[in-house]
Amino acid sequence: MKLKPLYIKNLKVDPPLILAPMSGLTHTVLRQLVAEFGGCGLFYTEMLSARALPSESPDSSPWLRGTPQERPIVYQLLVSHPEEVAAAIAKIESCGGDGIDLNMGCTTALIAKRGGGIALMKKPKRAEAIVRSSRKATNLPLTAKIRLGWTMSWNGLRDFCLMLQDSGVDAVCLHPRLKEDRLKRPARWEYIGKIKELLDIPVIGNGDVNSPQAANRMFELTGCDGVMIGRAAVKSPWLFRQIANSLSPGVCDNNYPDPADAFKRFILILENSMEPEYTLPLLKRFTFYFSQNYAFGHTLWTLVHNADSLATATVMANEFFQGTA
Ligand SMILES: Cc1cc2nc3c(=O)[nH]c(=O)nc-3n(C[C@H](O)[C@H](O)[C@H](O)COP(=O)(O)O)c2cc1C
Repeated sequence: MKLKPLYIKNLKVDPPLILAPMSGLTHTVLRQLVAEFGGCGLFYTEMLSARALPSESPDSSPWLRGTPQERPIVYQLLVSHPEEVAAAIAKIESCGGDGIDLNMGCTTALIAKRGGGIALMKKPKRAEAIVRSSRKATNLPLTAKIRLGWTMSWNGLRDFCLMLQDSGVDAVCLHPRLKEDRLKRPARWEYIGKIKELLDIPVIGNGDVNSPQAANRMFELTGCDGVMIGRAAVKSPWLFRQIANSLSPGVCDNNYPDPADAFKRFILILENSMEPEYTLPLLKRFTFYFSQNYAFGHTLWTLVHNADSLATATVMANEFFQGTA
């Protein structure tokens, strides 16, 4: 199949390959690295608390930071109440966001307990009020990222998605797992196809895409308008380039980096973009996924995990790469 641009309201996403929101992972550093490799048509931020956002700025909060390379960019809001929406959206607009996403799928216990993330799929009236307040607050493209729900109910899922569409959401992103599945069982792609058939707005599929073949299968099996990739893009930030090159030859070239060079580049961008206190924890999170590029990746992961400074982690990682060369 050949990739077609996806339009979310007036936002052109070309190629229709999207970096997923991932807390602690899809910050400006990873987004810059992915952008350098190319092939990613849309970047999401990690979830940002709607309650905290109004008092934050890109200077005080590294999570609001971005560069012109990481565009277009959708800021994801973690929101529990409709009253939180307007001020948070005003802040996102002032940061130059190209779109807003409402997180309705996060399964973290504390977040669900406070009424955010997947808790909204249990409270469709409140979810509707949040969507309507968001729609009133902005003309930017508005998306919602959802799961299948708490337990499997096709009627419940169908009504929730129709509610999103009728209340002003411009695209739905479905990660087709139940709350209790977390990330354990395979994503149930068949529901992406069912929601695509149901809705008039674009549907973005997400879950377990880790290669050009898998991206192709998701497009073909579900008819989805865009594919969103999370963990595999942390492991291989060049994956979008590979997919774009494989499905739309000519969009990107087919040169792929030595993973060691990508890792070193990540550290360089990290040092340039983040305050020192954030660099080591962020490198550790990144390395958890990135180390899966190597047969003995657990060694790389352990070396970085046990390092007490970014400098030590860099030296240890370089020694590991020399051993694999
Ligand atoms: C460490 C981690 C953090 C995540 N944080 C978020 C988040 O902030 N917002 C969100 O909507 N989903 C979040 N997710 C879910 C991903 O966006 C995505 O739906 C999930 O990983 C499945 O896609 P994948 O198989 O391509 O990784 C997170 C996932 C992981 C592994």
